[in-house]
Amino acid sequence: MTNRRILGAALVAGVAFAVPAGAQAQGNLTVYCSVQEEWCRPMMAAFERATGIRVAMTRKSSGETMTQIRAEASNPRGDVWWGGTGDPHMQAAQENLTVEYRSPRLAELHPWATRQAEQAQFRTVGIYAGALGYSYNTRELERRRIAAPTCWADLARPEFRGEVQVADPNTSGTAYTMLATLVQVMGEEPAFTYLRALHRNVNQYTRSGAAPARAAATGETLVGITFLHDAVTQKLAGAPVNIVAPCEGTGYEIGSMSIIRGARNMENARRFYDWALSPEAQAIAGTANTFQLPSNRASPIPPQAPRFEDVRLIDYDFARWGSSEERTRLLARWEREVRAGAR
Ligand code: G6P
Repeated sequence: MTNRRILGAALVAGVAFAVPAGAQAQGNLTVYCSVQEEWCRPMMAAFERATGIRVAMTRKSSGETMTQIRAEASNPRGDVWWGGTGDPHMQAAQENLTVEYRSPRLAELHPWATRQAEQAQFRTVGIYAGALGYSYNTRELERRRIAAPTCWADLARPEFRGEVQVADPNTSGTAYTMLATLVQVMGEEPAFTYLRALHRNVNQYTRSGAAPARAAATGETLVGITFLHDAVTQKLAGAPVNIVAPCEGTGYEIGSMSIIRGARNMENARRFYDWALSPEAQAIAGTANTFQLPSNRASPIPPQAPRFEDVRLIDYDFARWGSSEERTRLLARWEREVRAGAR
């Protein structure tokens, strides 16, 4: 090649180098995000800024994402599944839809987060935790002259007819956490008896888990069953709600992250994974008004986050209730015996 040709080639290359800040050079990443959109967006933007990798993100609920990843298994489109309750991540791991990855940051995490990874042969990892409960609109409660509920049992009382909102456990990880929690708190037969009674009081099964907290905040529903931290977001925004950790005891989620088998951008997927476990990345939650407990031991706990010490927590068996057999079986039973029932 002559000098002139080399110069010509460099100039042509120069055009590519002139493309703004690295995005092309660093490539792409497709993330399926299962937390609130308000947290998904700043998280992806911060990763783009930190690495120059361009992120394509879609937000869907936990159960919906699991179904999508399974449907795409022969032609995977996503690279990382970030957030959402742990059970469907555990199921995806068991069904071989996600791959093993041992981040160098694993040693920095709380035991509950690494235990989740160990139980799934390192095909998932805990990124945050939060306890389940409900919130009610204090103005609406007063207006109806109903005694304040404090237990799961209260929500099945006749005066709550049409007043309770919760998500559909097929699409929402939050609602599946409730289903598996009640089975663990009450035993399976009493739990289904309770769920059939609760069904008569449910005004709507939403697609997304946190929606009932917003509906309770506006008074569209009297009671919304969600994670406690989703209700805290509403209360801090000024909504007239009280937040209840049910008296019988309650379950919790280990919000999780997994790399999808066949990811087209495997290298970038691992970079995202490591970054998402860092205290800097985990601190973004608080700035987005979302108050889970972060999994990195060095991440500051937002002062507004509901503490596990203040809640009567059960020892939720994630390996069992996140298994493909049990999750499939419970959902089918709920569909048959609860959803299909008259109200
Ligand atoms: C909300 C909560 C998260 C939870 C997620 C599950 O975003 O803040 O902690 O993991 O809901 O969403 P889903 O729609 O699947 O119930």
